[in-house]
Amino acid sequence: MRKIDIANIEVGSRISKNIYNSKGQVLLSAGTVLTRRYVNRLKELGFSSVFVDDGLIDDISLEEAISEETRIQAVNCIRDIMKNVTRDNVINAAPLSKAVDSIIDDLLANREMMLNLSDIRSYDDYTFSHSVNVTVISVVIGMCLHYPKNRLKDLGIGVLLHDVGKTRIPPDIINKPGKLTDEEYEIVKKHTWYGFETLRKSPGIRLTSAHVALQHHERQDGSGYPRSLKGDEIIEFARISAIADVYDAMTSDRCYRKSIPVHKVCQYLAESSGAQFDSRILDRFIEKVALYPQGTRVTLNDGRSGIVTKQNSGVPARPVVRLFWDEKGPLPKPVHLNLAEHLELKIEDVFE
Ligand SMILES: [Fe+2]
Repeated sequence: MRKIDIANIEVGSRISKNIYNSKGQVLLSAGTVLTRRYVNRLKELGFSSVFVDDGLIDDISLEEAISEETRIQAVNCIRDIMKNVTRDNVINAAPLSKAVDSIIDDLLANREMMLNLSDIRSYDDYTFSHSVNVTVISVVIGMCLHYPKNRLKDLGIGVLLHDVGKTRIPPDIINKPGKLTDEEYEIVKKHTWYGFETLRKSPGIRLTSAHVALQHHERQDGSGYPRSLKGDEIIEFARISAIADVYDAMTSDRCYRKSIPVHKVCQYLAESSGAQFDSRILDRFIEKVALYPQGTRVTLNDGRSGIVTKQNSGVPARPVVRLFWDEKGPLPKPVHLNLAEHLELKIEDVFE
């Protein structure tokens, strides 16, 4: 299966992974053949891509960091919390605790796996899916830093709720596609304090988790908000979530721009290392990211091109590929090639 941009979908393609609506119910199930009407409806609902079998790597199943069940549980949990929390509310930590436990258990069971996030979501669901992805990435970083399970849990709870304060910011400002005015930006910044206040008084949520909501927009050089903290003044949980937050935002499709390929996002993060992000944490993170995720169409330096089918743990830039074409056209038959065993070859280009 492969993730394909909805603009390039051919009518008659078969969906290879369930598509969910914003309530977490199945909208189209795996196996459904896409008609023109379905494609148009998905576009209207704000989906930018879908998983289909297109005859190229149909035999390859997706390696995913967390199971579909865990993802749905976590998305439903954060959606319920953000829809129901009001100024005076506290958060019920029980479902939250279960959702974070499932994420941690899935990740601990897949320790060797490279980070390969591949959910699809409609634009409307961005906040919820984003919170779950940032949590997954943060817990993976926590594992790289050898956190014990209870510490991973406090990290996960804080990160899953890091933007809960946004529920108190007017939606027209949160959803504004263009640039914010200075006044609007000052209002947005307050979501950090609002989130902190809510988490601080919620029983079962530790103060260290609440500080993730307060500090996740702080940056190493003091250029962040709300308190312009610097370096070690920022708690480690927040330094982790800052990297995860920016990574997921850049690699996601938004209503105003397309997603940026993973290898380019990692390049950006590396260039901002030290100034914006904790370089020690960033180095550990980049080692774990699949630079060319499964299903990415790539060209090698010898002119052949194909699709990434598998990751090699610990070698992020050298996955396994299935080659279908060379400069003259289709190859007589597909070639299976492990780039970790062919150091003379490398990925030169990515089809975006
Ligand atoms: Fe935020």
